[in-house]
Amino acid sequence: MNPIPPVPARRPVADSFGRPLGSLRVSVTDRCNLRCRYCMPEEEYAWLPRDTILSFEEIDVLTGLFTECGVEKVRLTGGEPLLRRDLPTLIRMLVRNPRIKDLALTTNGILLANQAQALHDAGLHRVTVSLDTLRPERFKALTRRDSHAAVLEGIEAVARVGFKGLKFDTVAIRGFNDDELVEVIEFGKQTGGEVRFIEYMDVGGATDWSMDQVLSQAAILAAVGERYGRIEPLIEQGSSPARRFRLPDGTTFGIIASTTVPFCATCDRSRLTADGMWYLCLYAKDGIDLRQPLRGGASSEELKSLIGSVWRARRDRGAEERKELEQVGVRAPLIEVDKLREDPHLEMHARGG
Ligand code: GTP
Ligand code: 5AD
Ligand code: SF4
Repeated sequence: MNPIPPVPARRPVADSFGRPLGSLRVSVTDRCNLRCRYCMPEEEYAWLPRDTILSFEEIDVLTGLFTECGVEKVRLTGGEPLLRRDLPTLIRMLVRNPRIKDLALTTNGILLANQAQALHDAGLHRVTVSLDTLRPERFKALTRRDSHAAVLEGIEAVARVGFKGLKFDTVAIRGFNDDELVEVIEFGKQTGGEVRFIEYMDVGGATDWSMDQVLSQAAILAAVGERYGRIEPLIEQGSSPARRFRLPDGTTFGIIASTTVPFCATCDRSRLTADGMWYLCLYAKDGIDLRQPLRGGASSEELKSLIGSVWRARRDRGAEERKELEQVGVRAPLIEVDKLREDPHLEMHARGG
């Protein structure tokens, strides 16, 4: 293979609060093979029409334009991204872009055992696996599927094929897995993955959300500290949503506290749905349709100018606005079920977790 030639760095476009366009989450499908109750608690869902789903070539073109506007981190998401047939082909296309410094995948792990080798061979840099519980019966109650063993096999395969930088995403829910935090950290130690606890968020699709189920960062730190002793916060620059901490034995873990301590002030991320809608915030009600201009023959310069002008006007701070609602006592699920059915883009599983 020819080495990829270096390219001049691009100064990222900044939004109206000075936040750079730094990271893009690309959903490759809105379908999922689980029904996690924090994300997809309903019986029925409306799906994006198949003819609107971007081809790999279209994803590659759009991602390339984003990188010319400053994006350096790209994360493939779903639904469940490994349901998209032949994902390694897309990865091989994306890794040819030298502006992408970090190409990661967020998966529920069920299909990983079969695909880990091909993903690694294709050049994927990193994998993050959702791991909310270590108990098969709890997994089944959470996800309505009996696939816990497959997830564990997938995790084992990630390490075996040589991926570095494995992470686990654990949504911490009061009354569900709040007694498992230490076990999950211990599992992380054994498997070489860094655990991140995520506060249950009142995002679109989380129709069962209520504040009393949120296990806050403060409660997580108290529970973990009770077992391990002093927890040291790591001082880090950057825009990652996780705050990281170190235990006395050197083990690190993260907390993504977007419900109680939002991090909108440093948010450099946006999301492209599988059908080419671009959302500037996890909580945004409206997105920008990039599929139509792309399929309508818009030039690269026109598309880049659209991306740049939209990002420059960005004022989104969705999680902070949700938090402000608490002061007036009306924090409840973000969007009603009927509205979710009318526009599946409002769902967390369509915008990529
Ligand atoms: P790295 O830090 O680069 O490893 O990636 P990441 O943490 O951005 O990726 P990951 O998909 O693992 O994100 C973890 C979780 O954080 C997501 O599943 C969401 O629950 C939450 N999250 C990610 N991005 C956002 C965001 O922009 N806003 C909010 N409020 N939450 C987010
Ligand atoms: N709250 C917190 N995280 C969520 N995710 C999906 N829905 C929610 C929610 N309501 C995240 C989880 C999951 C990933 C795919 O999306 O981290 O692992
Ligand atoms: Fe970014 Fe919106 Fe999440 Fe805040 S809520 S961190 S602005 S995506």
